[in-house]
Amino acid sequence: MHFEFTEEQLMIRQAARDFAQAELKPGVIERDEHQKFPAEQVKKLGELGFLGMMVSPQYGGSGMDAISYVLVMEELSKVDASASVVVSVNNSLVCYGLEKYGSEAQKQKYLIPLAKGEVIGAFCLSEPEAGSDATSQRTTAIDMGDHYLVNGTKNWITNGNSASTYIVMAQTDAAKKHHGINALIIEKGMEGFTIGPKENKMGIRGSDTHSLMFTDVKVPKENRIGDEGFGFKFAMSTLEGGRIGIAAQALGIAAGAHELAVQYAKERKAFGKTIADLQAIQFKLADMATEIEAARLLCLKAAWLKDHGKSYTQAGSMAKLFASEVAMRTTVEAVQIHGGYGFVKEYHVERLMRDAKITQIYEGTSEIQRIVISREVLK
Ligand code: CAA
Repeated sequence: MHFEFTEEQLMIRQAARDFAQAELKPGVIERDEHQKFPAEQVKKLGELGFLGMMVSPQYGGSGMDAISYVLVMEELSKVDASASVVVSVNNSLVCYGLEKYGSEAQKQKYLIPLAKGEVIGAFCLSEPEAGSDATSQRTTAIDMGDHYLVNGTKNWITNGNSASTYIVMAQTDAAKKHHGINALIIEKGMEGFTIGPKENKMGIRGSDTHSLMFTDVKVPKENRIGDEGFGFKFAMSTLEGGRIGIAAQALGIAAGAHELAVQYAKERKAFGKTIADLQAIQFKLADMATEIEAARLLCLKAAWLKDHGKSYTQAGSMAKLFASEVAMRTTVEAVQIHGGYGFVKEYHVERLMRDAKITQIYEGTSEIQRIVISREVLK
């Protein structure tokens, strides 16, 4: 066992760090305020190869490992979680699933432009009445012979309006319950597919979250991923990797807030010295640093298991559960250390605190992660 990164991993981390400072930091407060999607920044992330990081070069990707993905997600999320969630969803929930389970024709048509970052994708599982209880899909995909007829509504879809390629889970045979669910590739612009208004959110306000409506959308059979009825397993399997991405996002939010708190504590004077000289602040910073390091190790362990072809179900859920809880605790403390300045937008920590909350909710709430972990523990 060793704890060193390769030269390549260190270079990728540095590139992500530089990008975050040069391209994401300017305007991040305004994008949050006006709920503006970071379109230009996402385009550049695509050009750098960050949107299809783990996809093989054969399909337009960068062929990097999951460790590099964690490093990139941490660095981007320190500054702009609205941009980093695009990286996570495109890599883990869209490209990964297409590369692993898609047909050659689907890879040629959809994966290559997604991996190159020419277009972005969305993963559509959640519904008004199916969030944590994901097997209860109400969206239907009726088998019409050479195509499916899709009807229903999806909720809280990341990249909802900015995506071009949507992977949509829908129920074809309700009698078979989750074995009747299919994963279908739906393109923006297909007749009967409409996009609802952008959600007005507490955090990751730059991220483009919408509901989607499908009314008699004709989806060709060749757009089904995997065999008939494979859709739920497809969703669960892709979410396992997604959870590593969101864990690393939570880690980055926590680490970003901690860096700001350290910097502020060294500058801010009170009672004739800097507040970094006060033990009350020192202990907070020490606890934050310890928890962040533990979260980082859980993220890297899950990524390492994935890179080595080992099971990462439990490790990914542990990383997401712990890192998201650490993100929440750390950002609250970072605001506290900043005092009144922490409560205003210019100091960034209030945004990080609002952004942290979603990491305990999406890609499986903390409670769902506990279900997954306990099932593994009790196996
Ligand atoms: N890999 C492959 N298959 C899996 C699996 C996995 N990790 N986990 C479960 N399955 C399979 C099971 O084997 C089972 O299949 P069989 O019947 O053939 O054995 C099937 O899936 C159903 O599993 P369960 O019986 O365990 O179903 P359940 O209803 O008891 O629990 C759950 C499933 C774990 C709670 C699941 O519903 C779940 O993960 N819910 C949370 C959903 C979620 O994470 N949503 C996030 C939305 S996407 C998002 O947030 C993206 C974004 O915008 C950023």
